[in-house]
Amino acid sequence: MDIEFVSSGPAQADAAAAIAAPVFDGQALGAAADAIDGATSGAISRAIAGSRFTGAKGQTLDLPAPHGVEAARVVLIGAGPRDGFDAMAAENLGAAAYQAVKLSGATALELKLADLSSAEAAQAAFGVRLAAYRFDRYLTKEKPEKKPSVKEARIACADPEAAVQAFAGLSALADAIVFARDLVSEPANILYPEEFARRVKLLEPLGLEVEILGEAEMGELGMGALLGVGQGSARESQLAVIVWKGAADPKAAPIAFVGKGVCFDSGGISIKPAEGMEDMKWDMGGAAAVAGVMHALAGRKAKVNAVGILGLVENMPSGDAIRPGDILTSMSGQTIEVINTDAEGRLVLADALWYCRTRFQPKAMIDLATLTGAMIIALGHDFGGLFSNNDALAADLLAASTAEGEALWRMPLHAGYERQIDSMAADMKNTGGRPAGSITAALFIQRFVDGSPWAHLDIAPVAWKKPSTVATIPDGATGYGVRLLNRLVANAYEDRAS
Ligand code: BES
Ligand code: MN
Ligand code: ZN
Repeated sequence: MDIEFVSSGPAQADAAAAIAAPVFDGQALGAAADAIDGATSGAISRAIAGSRFTGAKGQTLDLPAPHGVEAARVVLIGAGPRDGFDAMAAENLGAAAYQAVKLSGATALELKLADLSSAEAAQAAFGVRLAAYRFDRYLTKEKPEKKPSVKEARIACADPEAAVQAFAGLSALADAIVFARDLVSEPANILYPEEFARRVKLLEPLGLEVEILGEAEMGELGMGALLGVGQGSARESQLAVIVWKGAADPKAAPIAFVGKGVCFDSGGISIKPAEGMEDMKWDMGGAAAVAGVMHALAGRKAKVNAVGILGLVENMPSGDAIRPGDILTSMSGQTIEVINTDAEGRLVLADALWYCRTRFQPKAMIDLATLTGAMIIALGHDFGGLFSNNDALAADLLAASTAEGEALWRMPLHAGYERQIDSMAADMKNTGGRPAGSITAALFIQRFVDGSPWAHLDIAPVAWKKPSTVATIPDGATGYGVRLLNRLVANAYEDRAS
């Protein structure tokens, strides 16, 4: 999607463009809609008077080819109340405008935002970018009329230069979210651990350092838990280490992100039922979010040192696969009895987190993982689960989550449930039964952070949406976590201007 900022001129667009203009709930027409109303001898006012359109959020009013303006159609977009119209509302406005016209046949969207600030215009453009995302790489026979017709957006605003400036950071963020969504959307025959690592390596021109460890190196390090998961797969396991050094002091301790990257989770020997198993190509959503946030930090040259670690494996059944009852020795030295080979994400994170802490001594570690189905049962699809041993870190994450519209709900890391993962045969077992399944998974992971500040985001509920209910998130991969963590860094970890 090409996005351009132009000055708010007269009402005209061109015959192939759809004009979209916001109307605030219960308010008189703004400058843009008013100009169109004038040019069309009151077509807008008449259409509103004959409809239920009030400008409420979610409403649209479509006028095909009204006489007096050069445009394929004019669409009014309900912008909601003027009071409390914030960055997120502006973003949703842009997304709603794109959604309203994307299949209309118009080739361009001309979004008329004369009444908004430059920052709000940039935020609306961001909404258009996110809404226009589509993973159609493998649709070779899609009928043209099913494809979005809108290929470019022109955002008309009072001060285009200022909007372009305000858009720079958001554009870098959108690129990173798109990168994460593409990774999540790719099927597992295309995106296996080595291919994932290759695509991350391609980020180096942004200024990131990317190191890839294979099975031999991880074996040397004693990563028996992570390697155990990948052992049944024909694909080699990988650990990707992404480093961004943007702080004034290159030696300052980094903030660290660790992602579960199970490129396909069949369950292994404890194989999953056939129905819905295809969704498990998305089981690397945590790793994709971590790769995405590193992309975002480098893309906007964030003044921070940050590390991203991706544990990349494929969980398959085979004659070489780990069995229930097997005992694995993790890099930490702690032993794990495998009760269920489908509880593999925590095994990957156990070694990835231990490696991260011992190598980098980060200020804090945040892991992201599509870890448990139980998290979906607890929260549905509107929240990710947050677990943390540190209240300040949890508060920072919740604040970032609210600001970015990526909802999180804090869950208890209740020590009383620790006994559910006690094992007779090893230091712990990898499942704690059905009760509090997401909590016992988090308690398991906590055993590999050695008391350092840490948060675990169980993003199983939110890594993909089908169908999506959010205009900025098309059906499928959401890219959840990228903007949340990018905001966390901006709010709590970047060097302050001195
Ligand atoms: N990747 C799954 C969790 C998952 C399930 C994510 C459904 C999204 C949708 C994870 O590896 C898993 O299989 N977890 C098991 C754990 C159980 C065996 C203790 C689960 O949730 O059933
Ligand atoms: Mn599993
Ligand atoms: Zn999994």
